[in-house]
Amino acid sequence: MSHKRVAILISGGGSNMVSLVDSMIGDHPVRPCLVISNDAEAGGLKKAAARGIATAVVDHLPFAGDRAAFEAELVKPLLAAEADIVCLAGFMRVLTVGFVSQFQGRMLNIHPSLLPKYKGLNTHARALEAGDTEHGCTVHEVTAALDDGPILGQARIPVVPGDTPDTLAARVLEWEHKLYPAVLRRFAAGDRRPVLLP
Ligand code: GRF
Repeated sequence: MSHKRVAILISGGGSNMVSLVDSMIGDHPVRPCLVISNDAEAGGLKKAAARGIATAVVDHLPFAGDRAAFEAELVKPLLAAEADIVCLAGFMRVLTVGFVSQFQGRMLNIHPSLLPKYKGLNTHARALEAGDTEHGCTVHEVTAALDDGPILGQARIPVVPGDTPDTLAARVLEWEHKLYPAVLRRFAAGDRRPVLLP
């Protein structure tokens, strides 16, 4: 079987990347072809290398805010790796429409909130401040608008009394690791029905 190739973009520990990579076995139609980080110190790079996956670093700092110049470098290893699908997994750089449009309909992102609620950062603290009784994570297709785009999956969990941003984030992260692999597998089969967990 010829597998589809997925490139995964990270900025940090890469726990979502690890969950995705470890799910792509057996009859799964996708295999990881590359892990890219914008930060050479990202812990996820070692985890990818330990799993035998090619890695690349495209540091955004030398481009000092020139997003187009950074993205012109970032796209090179993706094209060289012939990625069919791109998964953003803890990737913390905002991508412009110029970059996103090159992967229209085949770039996914995971965001730690029940979108459309709490786009952007500090999602767990914001849910707690709002007194929400439930929270969770979302996988969506990446479009030019930040944390927007068609929803491909959501995991919904209760907020429990005494939750702090850290305890809530830890529980959400466990569900991210279940949701993203399930969405990638369904998405790769051409099925865009949202995965809804639990
Ligand atoms: C996770 O909370 C994820 O939702 C967000 O980045 C955080 C770290 O992800 N996008 P990872 O451990 O680097 O995958």
